[in-house]
Amino acid sequence: MYNSKITGLGYYVPEHVVTNDDLSKIMDTSDEWITERTGIKERRHVKEGDGNTTTSMGVKAAKIAMERAGVGTKDIDFVIFATLSPDYYFPGPGVLVQKELGLDTVGALDVRNQCSGFVYAVSVADQFIKTGMYRNVLVIGSELHSKGLDMTTRGRGVSVIFGDGAGAAILSREDDTSKGILSTHLHSEGEHAEELSLIAPGMGKRWVNDILKDNHPDDISYYPYMNGQFVFKNAVVRFSEVIMEGLQANNLSPADIDMLIPHQANLRISQFIQQKFKLSDDQVYNNIMRYGNTTAASIPIALTEAWEEGRVKEGDTVVLAAFGSGFTWGSTIIRW
Ligand code: UT7
Repeated sequence: MYNSKITGLGYYVPEHVVTNDDLSKIMDTSDEWITERTGIKERRHVKEGDGNTTTSMGVKAAKIAMERAGVGTKDIDFVIFATLSPDYYFPGPGVLVQKELGLDTVGALDVRNQCSGFVYAVSVADQFIKTGMYRNVLVIGSELHSKGLDMTTRGRGVSVIFGDGAGAAILSREDDTSKGILSTHLHSEGEHAEELSLIAPGMGKRWVNDILKDNHPDDISYYPYMNGQFVFKNAVVRFSEVIMEGLQANNLSPADIDMLIPHQANLRISQFIQQKFKLSDDQVYNNIMRYGNTTAASIPIALTEAWEEGRVKEGDTVVLAAFGSGFTWGSTIIRW
């Protein structure tokens, strides 16, 4: 048996900054409301003509992670791509990464677990490495939300929250099983699938022929829907549960956490978890103020930034935790 270890991290966000004041010019919202309810001050959106796609942002993040890990294209054995905003309905972006990076014809897997996507993807990579099947796995979380949001007052409960960006990690074989990914913990509860969802253009909604016929101009099921308060209440419970589950599986307590990287859904959720586990500001990383909620990209972007700032060091106990649409949630316990 081996462990897997994160040997390289990278992220990419589009240059175009969209502030809360920018949004208040196109919908009935305010910097005060967004800041107070979410902690977000600005987010990044792709701009027409800047060439950014979910895949291309993921590739940019991946190149940085590969360079930092010291692995070349020939060293990558498998690609896992987590996103809810793929370039195409199918195929998923995993194969596009294989092409863009010029990898050998290695396997490419797409993960559809929204905000928990990166934690799920890391878990899958970890299993492949633990069994000895692969040595280096490229894991990407990337989202292009802005092209799919309802940027009118009707959609303000969702559209002010989400931002675009990508993060990537290289997971590599580690012989010392006391290091690297110690354990991963995954959950789901499909009963609440519709509480945070994008129903169309799934085949469950209607015949594609009908969509083409009359174009359904008022069909809001083409925009993401979120029952915010219900999701919030579930998030704080599940975040707490799954962090404790991970700690207990490794005989650790909250005081042992050197760095908690929570999925950046809402600053109030992070602060609730921080207070509940009595963690200091040094033990929790937040960057939702600058990027909003970037779904599958939020943890790898935050982890990369924390690492770049020297806040994640060798020997540290690092906890990743996510909750989101599905509902799905999960945690990863790492000895850095
Ligand atoms: O990442 C996946 C997991 N996602 C989450 O965990 C998100 C969880 N939920 C949340 O973060 C919060 O529920 C939100 C930030 C989405 C919303 O905050 P809230 O405090 O739950 O607000 P609310 O939805 O209860 O809305 C309160 C009021 C409503 O007006 P009335 O009915 O009280 O008159 C909304 O219409 O705020 C209004 N509102 C807004 N006002 C200004 C909703 N969105 C906006 C907006 N600007 N952007």
